[in-house]
Amino acid sequence: MLKGKHILVGVSGGIAAYKAAILVRALVKEGAEVRVVMTPMAKHFITPLTMATVSKHSVLTDFYNPENGDWNSHVSLGLWADAYIVAPATANTLAKMAHGIADNLLLTTYLSMRCPVVAAPAMDMDMWNHPATQSNLQTLQKHGVHIIEPPAGELASGLEGKGRMEEPERIIAFVEQLFVKKKSLAGKTILVTAGPTYEAIDPVRFIGNHSSGKMGYALAESLANRGAQVLLVSGPTSLPAPQGVELVRVTAAAEMYAAVTERFDKADAAILCAAVADYTPEKKSTHKIKREKEPLSIALKPTIDIAAALGKQKKKNQWTVGFALETDNELANAKKKLQTKNLDMIVLNSLNDEGAGFGGDTNKITIIKKDGTVAAYPVQPKQKVAEIIVDTIAKMC
Ligand code: PMT
Repeated sequence: MLKGKHILVGVSGGIAAYKAAILVRALVKEGAEVRVVMTPMAKHFITPLTMATVSKHSVLTDFYNPENGDWNSHVSLGLWADAYIVAPATANTLAKMAHGIADNLLLTTYLSMRCPVVAAPAMDMDMWNHPATQSNLQTLQKHGVHIIEPPAGELASGLEGKGRMEEPERIIAFVEQLFVKKKSLAGKTILVTAGPTYEAIDPVRFIGNHSSGKMGYALAESLANRGAQVLLVSGPTSLPAPQGVELVRVTAAAEMYAAVTERFDKADAAILCAAVADYTPEKKSTHKIKREKEPLSIALKPTIDIAAALGKQKKKNQWTVGFALETDNELANAKKKLQTKNLDMIVLNSLNDEGAGFGGDTNKITIIKKDGTVAAYPVQPKQKVAEIIVDTIAKMC
């Protein structure tokens, strides 16, 4: 499966660097073309000679060759690679990657990467558990890096715990999956809505909600990683456009409705993850409403239900997937929305579940399909939740 693939392996300085040689050897056996870049510290753990021998190519460790001034271009490596595996990824290297520090060739190459990046951390368990490391890992996941969590076991320190680098064959299996998944939605166009909507009361104030857009953006990214053409219609968020995704920014529910319906015709499916306001002020004041002693009432009118509109508009070969954010009678309410909005699938998340719903980096979902099947999943990062949803959609499309 890796035959002909260009795989760049980044080795940072930790005891697990010896496993990088096994990893590279196995990748070459799978038919991949492998290049290796090492940090200065990695050379203390495993020699460039070993890595050059197993990869069958000279190893890159410095920005340039001091003997002849030859420049090692991280930009060309970024364009060349189909996947970049950083293994082992030490706490120091992960921290620098998370913060865009580029003081060695492994790191400058990381910043130039256009392909999927996979990091296999290796460190002592206390370093792994440290809030700084955990926060760096979350940042990297937000930036789209795939983290292969270290399994628990005996560590170089003699302690028992999480921190051993994952075994090379498992890292390879993960990378192979990336390539399989990448192809599975090629040729499909998928529309995604994300984030909140802001319904203006006056030029200063609005009615909004706590949606950060993280769930919808993670879906868009996962779909793009599998080769789909993704149109992301997003309410106001502070998130950047995921790589390879066409982003249309809107503010209010009416704008989101217009942007979505205009594009739905060319889509194979729509995933409606946005937390769209159900009501909007009947009138927007043209000036800032002044503070008075009397209570203020604002008349609200219902917004158009985008999901329901697409449910009516969709053709036989089009799919719609909705979300249900519930606080009570969760399953019954979600099933009702599945029917009334004529959806093919609905993803339920409940604010009663810890780690689920708005704002945070995790979610806990239950997928309910039109055929009545129900599948519940544990709390996990929104990127992983997105993978599960996209896996399910890829099987339906
Ligand atoms: O953005 P995050 O902070 O990551 O949070 C993610 C999330 C909690 C917002 C997301 O997982 C989620 O649940 N999104 C749907 C929120 C919502 O509005 O749920 P609902 O049960 O009110 O709506 C049901 C469905 O109808 C949704 O697919 C919604 O997009 C759609 N809808 C609702 C109203 C409307 N006017 N038009 C719609 O299309």
